[in-house]
Amino acid sequence: MVSKISEKSLMSQRFFLADEGQQIALAKKVAQHLSSSFVMLLQGDLGVGKTTFARSFIQASGFDGVVKSPTYTLVEPYPISNNRQCYHFDLYRLANPEELEFIGARDYFNNNDVCLVEWPEKAEGFLPPADWICAFSHHNQGRNLIISALSDKGKKLMLQAFSNF
Ligand SMILES: Nc1ncnc2c1ncn2[C@@H]1O[C@H](COP(=O)(O)OP(=O)(O)O)[C@@H](O)[C@H]1O
Ligand SMILES: [Mg+2]
Repeated sequence: MVSKISEKSLMSQRFFLADEGQQIALAKKVAQHLSSSFVMLLQGDLGVGKTTFARSFIQASGFDGVVKSPTYTLVEPYPISNNRQCYHFDLYRLANPEELEFIGARDYFNNNDVCLVEWPEKAEGFLPPADWICAFSHHNQGRNLIISALSDKGKKLMLQAFSNF
């Protein structure tokens, strides 16, 4: 399904996602294995599939509804499994990082909930430490994805989610 294009390592793993279906399948796989709080940064150019990934993750985590791109609202909350919220950020339109305070972001990064952050570069220095950085890029008609695990929790999820990929 999803072809791995480099050796598996504890810290980072690389995937080629040939079409939207593979992007969705990977996000679902991650959701199935994540039951705790988590901070995931989604990097990459416009149109690279960050929202597609986030939407599939949120729906596969138990939210039964429409997931829109939070481009204008900056953040949208979704109730998901295990009594968590998933906060989906799109910081593309953030004028300056201090604006994060006004949308209450400090309360969203906590010990219970999941935060998915598109355009984290816009708030550099104002975000808490990430568990994963997902770096998407265009490759032919599909996408390359490099996931880097930056915390123990992030490494554990990587091993669990991709052990049989
Ligand atoms: N792995 C993939 N291969 C090809 N097209 C994809 C892939 N993932 C997503 N897409 C397509 O890319 C387009 C843009 O996706 P979107 O999630 O809105 O990007 P972003 O949030 O990064 O701007 C959508 O039409 C989606 O179907
Ligand atoms: Mg987007």
